[in-house]
Amino acid sequence: MRIYKVGGAVRDRLLGKPVTDIDWVVVGATTEEMLAKGFRPVGADFPVFLHPKSGEEYALARTERKSGRGYGGFTFHASPEVTLEEDLIRRDLTINAMAEDDQQNLTDPYHGQRDLEARLLRHVSPAFAEDPLRVLRVARFAARYATLGFTVAPETLALMRQLSESGELEALTPERSWKEISRALLEDQPQVFVEVLRACGALKVLMPEVDALFGVPQPPAHHPEIDTGVHTLSVLQQAALHKQPLTVRWACLLHDLGKGLTPEDEWPRHIAHEFKGLKLIKAVNERFKVPRDCQELALLVGEYHTHGHRALELKPSTLLELLQSFDIYRRPQRFEEFIAACEMDARGRKGLEERSYPQADYLRGAATAARSVAVQPLLEKGFKGPELGEEIKRERLKALKAYKEATSV
Ligand code: CTP
Repeated sequence: MRIYKVGGAVRDRLLGKPVTDIDWVVVGATTEEMLAKGFRPVGADFPVFLHPKSGEEYALARTERKSGRGYGGFTFHASPEVTLEEDLIRRDLTINAMAEDDQQNLTDPYHGQRDLEARLLRHVSPAFAEDPLRVLRVARFAARYATLGFTVAPETLALMRQLSESGELEALTPERSWKEISRALLEDQPQVFVEVLRACGALKVLMPEVDALFGVPQPPAHHPEIDTGVHTLSVLQQAALHKQPLTVRWACLLHDLGKGLTPEDEWPRHIAHEFKGLKLIKAVNERFKVPRDCQELALLVGEYHTHGHRALELKPSTLLELLQSFDIYRRPQRFEEFIAACEMDARGRKGLEERSYPQADYLRGAATAARSVAVQPLLEKGFKGPELGEEIKRERLKALKAYKEATSV
């Protein structure tokens, strides 16, 4: 049996990047031999094992044939006769289809090293089409390596377009898609992920609500970049530049979906887009079974981001409603994430990336003022039940009025 390091570990070592996960491929072995050596099988159907000590993944060299639609539609053929080259040819990208033995001798039959140097994401063979998730993977790698100058090879983009148009993407499970989407959003250049998906027609299939934003104009006074799709990508880029967490990045991507619904004769204004967008945000959230914290923040940011921008002009009563909607008393972190998303929205505009956002500190100050109302004295005065609730609100409103007066010049 011969054992090789494969995939991302080889690619990232050659790129001089830190290697975290190592995948191994085993040539010339049977399942029985692996079990006899103490390897633990991973799944019933996959010829993949975990090393008894390191826990790293060891896969028997295999060929894969697609026998139907979706992820279930695979049959595997693993046997000691399958060669390393046969295993590598079914992989997604040439840069992911290199293997290395324990002496760091490279096996690179599909010229991954050449493509690394040429900064090209290129598919290995037509077998690429056997897993439609690869459309998302390539877009994710494009986002990750954009800073290094990588682009998608034209023939690979063409194949991704074919896959997107074939209806295959619809067969992906929400879980697999979300895993790719969330990882891509956390890359340094998440906007490239969206751009690549758009360029191959996958965005229209996966998130038509985002795709619809391209070509929709906004008022140039607030949005020198004009196009809503371009704005959305800039907001996402700002979120990555400012190292925002996934929740904020997801909210940034979806915050303006309502603008895609504005009738053309109302352009470039988008009256009530915040509210109109909510059903679209909900639909995207549900489509990918997005984690609850991301879902919630996206909906709140969608509904209230313009409140954030107008924070300094809001009446104390509106400010209180905003703070109550966020339940800032029990969920302080979520309000901070809302403020961050608003700030990214303000900065994601052409030429305005560096401008200050005084609304952020103003909102924080307002939250502190509202939180400063102590409940204990009200209990001591005998308030309880709904009356107590009303009294707390009245006190908070007083605190916000005082805050607004103290901060206005
Ligand atoms: N692979 C593939 N098609 C997929 C998933 C994986 O061809 N849909 C192959 C690629 O050769 C890939 C390897 O399996 O390099 C390991 O996959 P994975 O661990 O998911 O990705 P990595 O390439 O290691 O990348 P990352 O750094 O994102 O984990």
